[in-house]
Amino acid sequence: MPILDILLEGDPRLRQKAIRVRSVDDSLRKLAADMFETMHDAPGVGLAGPQVGVMRRLIVVHVPADHGDDGEPETTLALVNPEIVRSNGRVLGYEGCLSIPGWTGEVPRSETITVKAIDLDNKPVRIKAKGWVARVLQHEIDHLDGILFLDRVEDKSTIQPLPDEAEEAVAVEA
Ligand code: NI
Repeated sequence: MPILDILLEGDPRLRQKAIRVRSVDDSLRKLAADMFETMHDAPGVGLAGPQVGVMRRLIVVHVPADHGDDGEPETTLALVNPEIVRSNGRVLGYEGCLSIPGWTGEVPRSETITVKAIDLDNKPVRIKAKGWVARVLQHEIDHLDGILFLDRVEDKSTIQPLPDEAEEAVAVEA
């Protein structure tokens, strides 16, 4: 399976709205597998179709257990046409993005969310998420609408370059 090229900020495709998937087929499953491999290679915890130049509403997420010290189990998701149908609370946290390498900033996100989607078997799924998984899902779903995390930073003074040694410490590079 090939590692795909990750588009960088400035590429107009990162600003476009991705289109809904009608039905999951083998080519989409293959794309999801390639996206997982690309995300793990980067490394990152989430990746959205537009980041690899595919303007379709597909995201992959892999958050290791206790990634944010929040006691959450390991979470692996591939979601098609994901949609946030419920959200509660507001929490600030630092994010990074594989399309904006080397930068971080503090982003307000909903604390808990419910996401409706279809899985790679074309089955409807509902995911309840909190902690880092909720943050990564919101970050990835934003990518499907052409939104980058820097757009959501409210306190611009929190935007800062990431020292190399801190790369691993950043909670979300997605
Ligand atoms: Ni990102």
